[in-house]
Amino acid sequence: MKIIAKMIVLLIIIGFSTPISAVSGQKLNLTAKKSSHQFPFFDAPTPVWAYNGSIPGPTIRGQEGQIIEVELINNLDEPSSIHWHGLIVDNAMDGVPGVTQDPVKPGERFNYRLKLQNAGTYWYHPHLNGSEQLGRGLKGALIVESDEKLPWSQDIVWLIDDWFLEKTGSIYPRFNTGHDLMHDGRWGNVVTINGNFQPAFSVSPGERIRIRLINGANARVLMPVFNGIDAKVIAVDGKPVSQIFRYEGFDLAPGNRIDLDIVIPTEAHGQTYIVEGGFTRNRFPLASIKVEEVPSVQTPVFDPPTAEDFLPAEVFASVAPFKTWELDAIRGGKYGIGWAMNRLLWPNSDNADIRLGQPQKIVFKNNSSRLHPMHIHGTFFRVLERNGKPDIEPFTRDTVLLGARESVVIGLVPTEPGIWMSHCHIQSHAEAGMMTTVNVTPQNRN
Ligand code: C2O
Ligand code: CU
Ligand code: CU
Repeated sequence: MKIIAKMIVLLIIIGFSTPISAVSGQKLNLTAKKSSHQFPFFDAPTPVWAYNGSIPGPTIRGQEGQIIEVELINNLDEPSSIHWHGLIVDNAMDGVPGVTQDPVKPGERFNYRLKLQNAGTYWYHPHLNGSEQLGRGLKGALIVESDEKLPWSQDIVWLIDDWFLEKTGSIYPRFNTGHDLMHDGRWGNVVTINGNFQPAFSVSPGERIRIRLINGANARVLMPVFNGIDAKVIAVDGKPVSQIFRYEGFDLAPGNRIDLDIVIPTEAHGQTYIVEGGFTRNRFPLASIKVEEVPSVQTPVFDPPTAEDFLPAEVFASVAPFKTWELDAIRGGKYGIGWAMNRLLWPNSDNADIRLGQPQKIVFKNNSSRLHPMHIHGTFFRVLERNGKPDIEPFTRDTVLLGARESVVIGLVPTEPGIWMSHCHIQSHAEAGMMTTVNVTPQNRN
């Protein structure tokens, strides 16, 4: 393709976003199907799997308090489902085949009814054959807006993804390989934001913008570096932080979200800020933020909300850890290499039975030298200790990264009854067994 044609394609892609606004009483459709996506460095589009033909899937925007209906239409050749990562939903709507629903077979549909309880940044993805279904592109952002509209001049979603592409322009077709299993899962070779490779975002001097970063990658951990930009962290994993703090790097593991509040200096005309991906030794460009040569706009002044219903660390002070999950590799399972929690592989797992409304402590102890971003459905939790030392974070999470040999103590107060997954968000680790459940019941089981 000629350079000009490539640029036109690129402009179309960048300018093309497909938000769907949720309107109460109106059903949204997400059709999972084979599609294609044009990467700027290939001559022909790359075959992908996508929702509604778009990479990423449509950004769903709804209002806090709203009940929305989303119908999954599965036009793939294999069963699927949709999980609403981070969103507190009725257990039956959580999208976990074999646990909360039957798999949605090819040609079938499933209607998800979601109450949007808390404003924040969430995302959706399949919960079956995740390595491949996420690796081929199935995912999208879900934004719940609060009633109180804050005057950011731009509110942008950065759904970050990691693609393992072959030179021929197709997705590397082997998933859960021995290499993936022995390491930190499938790390690709092309990182995109909203499906775009190293996109440029334009701003005016003086603008105050909100960026919602979502790590939707299969396995890659990112530590975004905002060179020259002063950013504040206002939310983690969807929820407002209890105290807004300066962004100085964050291990954004698969599943994690952070919302940043950024003021573009009024004297920044013509400047370009490069945002890089860190975490590993080699940094690489993720995106750029270009400040237009235009008169500066007036910077809006306001205070973003902080968490009201925050989990105070004191409620866990006298609670003894109720469950310790030791994370390690064992022989066995369907790939020969199993990733185990307490030496057991899903579905023969060591579950946690806990009681609704009661403060609980859970310990994740990584006995391996690999990474494990541990995620729990249906709840928020707070990190209380790391590696034996108190380390109380000023925010809650739904996913916490454990590095080699690390241990983390979390506190949570379950508010939703049901069977909720607890698993590593590195897709190949989860599929190799690193999954269990937290069973929340109104009564103690005797
Ligand atoms: Cu984002 Cu059980 O997953
Ligand atoms: Cu989840
Ligand atoms: Cu893992």
